Amino acid sequence: MHAEIASLRDSVREAYSLAALRPGERHPFPVGRDFAGSAGYPEELLRAMPLPAVEAFTGVSNVSIFAQIPAGGRVVDLGCGAGLDTLIAARRAGPQGRVLGIDFSPAMLERAAESSRALGATNVAFVRADAESACRWIAHRWTSSW
Ligand SMILES: C[S@@+](CC[C@H](N)C(=O)[O-])C[C@H]1O[C@@H](n2cnc3c(N)ncnc32)[C@H](O)[C@@H]1O
Repeated sequence: MHAEIASLRDSVREAYSLAALRPGERHPFPVGRDFAGSAGYPEELLRAMPLPAVEAFTGVSNVSIFAQIPAGGRVVDLGCGAGLDTLIAARRAGPQGRVLGIDFSPAMLERAAESSRALGATNVAFVRADAESACRWIAHRWTSSW
């Protein structure tokens, strides 16, 4: 059973990593700017976000737009992908806020980090972790000092 779970996890990671490496190709799920537009992300906002995050967008809704994120809020984006939602959340949380993006795909995280650097975001951090172990990581490492 454990082997089946590990194999499924590897397949999911590989599928998302391919989307990060070659977003313009066909994938088992929609990817990219047009899809983000159809999912409800305003064009003006997409234009303001770095290309590496937008072109490899693989979200399932525009949650970072409708979620309640107060100024100074703390957000955990579990399965952050290329970081579009993470960076929108960071913008809404403002400089006093903190947003942590977690993903198990190194290729996705590279895009997310590149996009964060392009924006000069100081309130965002990314961590490579499985969702299953992320809660433990958050409890131990995401201290009040960050
Ligand atoms: C639906 S996409 C999220 C897209 C993202 N919100 C965006 O703005 O583009 C899901 C992400 O979750 C990651 N993921 C899926 N299962 C995971 C797991 N068990 N642990 C960590 N990350 C996972 C995938 O690598 C993928 O990048």
